[in-house]
Amino acid sequence: MNNNETEKKHHHARGRFSGRIGYVLAVAGSAVGLGNIWRFPYLAAKYGGGMFLLVYLLLILTFGYVLIVSETALGRMTRKSPVGAFAKFGKSFSFRFGGWINAVIPMIIVPYYSVIGGWVIKYLFEYLKGNSAALAADDYFSNFIASSGMAELWFLIFSALVFIVILAGVKNGVELVSKIMMPVLVLLAIFVAGYSVTRPGAMEGVKYFLIPNFENFSPMTVVAAMGQMFYSLSIAMGILYTYGSYLGKDVDIEASTKQVEIFDTAIALLAGLMIIPAVFAFSGGAPETLQAGPSLMFITLPKVFASMGFGGIAGFTFFLLVLLAALTSAISLMETSVSTISDELGWNRKKSCIIMAVVMLSIGSASAFGYGIWDFVTIFGMQILDFVDFLTNSVMMPIAALATCFLILKVVGLQTISEEIERSSKFKRKKLYGFFMKYLAPLCITIILLSSIANVLGWIHM
Ligand code: PFF
Repeated sequence: MNNNETEKKHHHARGRFSGRIGYVLAVAGSAVGLGNIWRFPYLAAKYGGGMFLLVYLLLILTFGYVLIVSETALGRMTRKSPVGAFAKFGKSFSFRFGGWINAVIPMIIVPYYSVIGGWVIKYLFEYLKGNSAALAADDYFSNFIASSGMAELWFLIFSALVFIVILAGVKNGVELVSKIMMPVLVLLAIFVAGYSVTRPGAMEGVKYFLIPNFENFSPMTVVAAMGQMFYSLSIAMGILYTYGSYLGKDVDIEASTKQVEIFDTAIALLAGLMIIPAVFAFSGGAPETLQAGPSLMFITLPKVFASMGFGGIAGFTFFLLVLLAALTSAISLMETSVSTISDELGWNRKKSCIIMAVVMLSIGSASAFGYGIWDFVTIFGMQILDFVDFLTNSVMMPIAALATCFLILKVVGLQTISEEIERSSKFKRKKLYGFFMKYLAPLCITIILLSSIANVLGWIHM
């Protein structure tokens, strides 16, 4: 059988993207989510503003690029999700570990992602009821998350939506929704960002966000930026292996990677411009607000909307779009988790969903209660949700990315990866790719990993 016939056979057995546009949209749909709109602005505000942004952009252009290209190429080459892809090259423990660490991460993320998704629905619901002014009050958000029952209820509602879509398998519906909603989200974000940056006092915030100030640099800036890069681009969690495995041999991997990165970063920048200048305009850039962490979006944006003439409608539309972006991402996290379980354990989708429901209920409820009745529980000084977020983004993802680097460097070989990429197009950044892969990636990932663990254990202070 020649190559083409092998290809055709595969495509009958396995789903396939229609082409580059389909692939870019699907990856962008998974990449753009709460990570861009909720997580990126609070990390940028907390870890140094312009300095964080600079480090983040450098990482996206170097590691981010190399890792997306690698995972996609490995997926397309093996036509397998991560566990299968690693197993194709070896059966020993290290291969199984490498595959599973990539595959387990989405299973841990999706529960707490859904807790935040629940907060979004709650705000949407309140805007629908016309409570715009109440939402803008100073302690509205902290009171809400402290009322554990409510936080749990909205988490369950968000999770139910995710499971309904997964079980109904309405993949096309989701794609259609995201194709229409994404452009609307971008327009609305441009509008809100424009409004935020023109408020009196907001320019200080724009400067803080866009101009790097070396005084604001700390090792945590790099650790946080790196975790955010993995999270936002859906790297090191099996997604890109899986999507790569559906990719045609004629699609230019480098060009599509570039498009995904531009799109994802543009949305994150817009979200930063909506939220950070507003912190300065509405709270005078108070350090406590800049350090607010996960609650930042929910504290700052309602103030922006309340100050607008038609803020109730703007608030409603905004949270609706964020909800849809969050849902498409949560669905892709859940879809990967369910398909890994059913592929590897040979269970059907329903049974795999039950396993995921148990995981969701335990990690998700613990995260939701962690700000309320369980607020006495702290792990290494972090509340439960913050800890799970840290564990996946700053510990597990670097390990997963390291596993991918080792697989390529020690087993598959840079040459084979290059050949895979060259099946569709010239490999323009081949030299750069080899350099980053060989020297920079493993070294930096190791340093980041060790420093974030040392920080948590209190050995160093970052
Ligand atoms: N990248 C998504 C975000 O920024 O919100 C989160 C995510 C979704 C990660 C889906 C991984 C994934 F498979």
